[in-house]
Amino acid sequence: MDNPFRVGLETERAPAPCAFVIFGASGDLARRKLLPALYNLAVSRLLPPGFSIVGFAVTEMSEDQFRASMREGVAQFSRRKPIDEAVWNDFASRLHYVSGAFDDEANFARLRAKLDEIDANNGTRENRLYYLAIPPSLFPKVNDQLARAGLVADPSDASRYTRIIVEKPFGRDLASGDALNADLHRVFHERQIFRIDHYLGKETVQNLVALRFGNAIFEPIWNRNHIDHVQITVAEDIGVEGRGKFYEEAGTTRDIVQNHLLQLLMVMAMEPPVAFAADEVRDEKVKVLRALKPLVGEDALRDTVRGQYGPGNFVGRPVPGYREEPNVSPASHVETFVAMRLELDNWRFAGVPIYIRAGKRLTKRITEISVHFKDVPHALLREDGAHVEPDVLAIRIQPDEGIALRFVAKVPGPTMTLRPVAMDFKYGSTFGGSGPEAYERLILDAMLGDPTLFARADEVSAAWRFITPIHEAWASAPVPTFPSYAAGTWGPPEASDLIARDGRAWRRI
Ligand code: BG6
Repeated sequence: MDNPFRVGLETERAPAPCAFVIFGASGDLARRKLLPALYNLAVSRLLPPGFSIVGFAVTEMSEDQFRASMREGVAQFSRRKPIDEAVWNDFASRLHYVSGAFDDEANFARLRAKLDEIDANNGTRENRLYYLAIPPSLFPKVNDQLARAGLVADPSDASRYTRIIVEKPFGRDLASGDALNADLHRVFHERQIFRIDHYLGKETVQNLVALRFGNAIFEPIWNRNHIDHVQITVAEDIGVEGRGKFYEEAGTTRDIVQNHLLQLLMVMAMEPPVAFAADEVRDEKVKVLRALKPLVGEDALRDTVRGQYGPGNFVGRPVPGYREEPNVSPASHVETFVAMRLELDNWRFAGVPIYIRAGKRLTKRITEISVHFKDVPHALLREDGAHVEPDVLAIRIQPDEGIALRFVAKVPGPTMTLRPVAMDFKYGSTFGGSGPEAYERLILDAMLGDPTLFARADEVSAAWRFITPIHEAWASAPVPTFPSYAAGTWGPPEASDLIARDGRAWRRI
């Protein structure tokens, strides 16, 4: 705590005691993300007294086996290493496990008995937070069973709470997304539902709100008068990592664009909310989605590019193409890359193109939003009249988190030679680290009952309303020639053509 910038980094917010129930607790998400996040909250002393975790899954295992498997997950995936034995021992004593199928009422009666016991021993007072780390097809079953077992409190009951955290995918198109929401609403009130999009839990995404609305200098130029265009890149160097089956159903557009990338767009483009509170922020975000110019039919085919990686190289070693990955069809037409040219039909951004791209097996892992400002009106400092590159504000979401402003400076010497230079803010050097993981912040917020950083039903629906016609246009077009880019490159050439058509280029990142 010697670094003065770190003062105040730990929050003072204290959630009420509660039980945290993970449905699908034997799966990958619990081991990789949820338990490491909960353990780190324990290390930061942010968990309430009496806090308890109940894992619920079909896999048969004893509580001791569950604890051992969770310990292994925490040891491998926690941001803090090695495990702090004192913290772990206390944490492990709060871990419980119930095994059984989700369609058997008797198992929910056992879950209820376990929760009653925890309430009696730990003072959790029927405060329950459920985490659905299961495929969406199982949601209705679990919701019904919870309701039937009397495990859902009325939202108006101030003495206790029931909340449910739901993982993406929130459907696969507008109809299924809306059906999923309708199904959740049969049992839960919208205020009890926390749809997690872990991008909103990233410090750098929240800092975009701070950058825009905590400073006076950016907002006046954050509009069509000063911005030429915006680029958003979500690039990953990894392939589908054994998730071929899931990816065949999803593709990059459903996996990344419909949720994470559109969240970045919303935070970048939204109007200042009247308060930093759940509905105020989400009202402004959803307006951005409503302002997106629809990409339907020919427009979708003109302004979108999809690609799929073939074999290539990653850090000097050969890697297989998507079609060679396990559980992927050798003739698959699923996209592992997508680029789009978007426009917002609103006062602030009308006529400002927003180029987005996302993909797997690209050259490197980088997520960045770059705001490209307009050129000077008259290049008076150059004898040849040529323009130097216009100013760019680059917000690096990850890795190497930070914000860089590129502007023009005079090169020292007898002539007025101009060159782009950068002012660079880095989280690592300023704050001495990049802060908590997204899941830590989001789970804590759900315990506190603050849904600001979670997706609201209308937001999910508006995102699908934009995405579904693009999928429909692709389905009616001739099948693409895939693979269309080699692993380890920046995607198919058509992605460069998409932006070059407007006389622009992707930023070199
Ligand atoms: C997940 C996607 O939601 O986000 C994955 O399903 C992707 O395919 C991951 O790899 C990326 O998250 P992050 O935090 O590494 O950018």
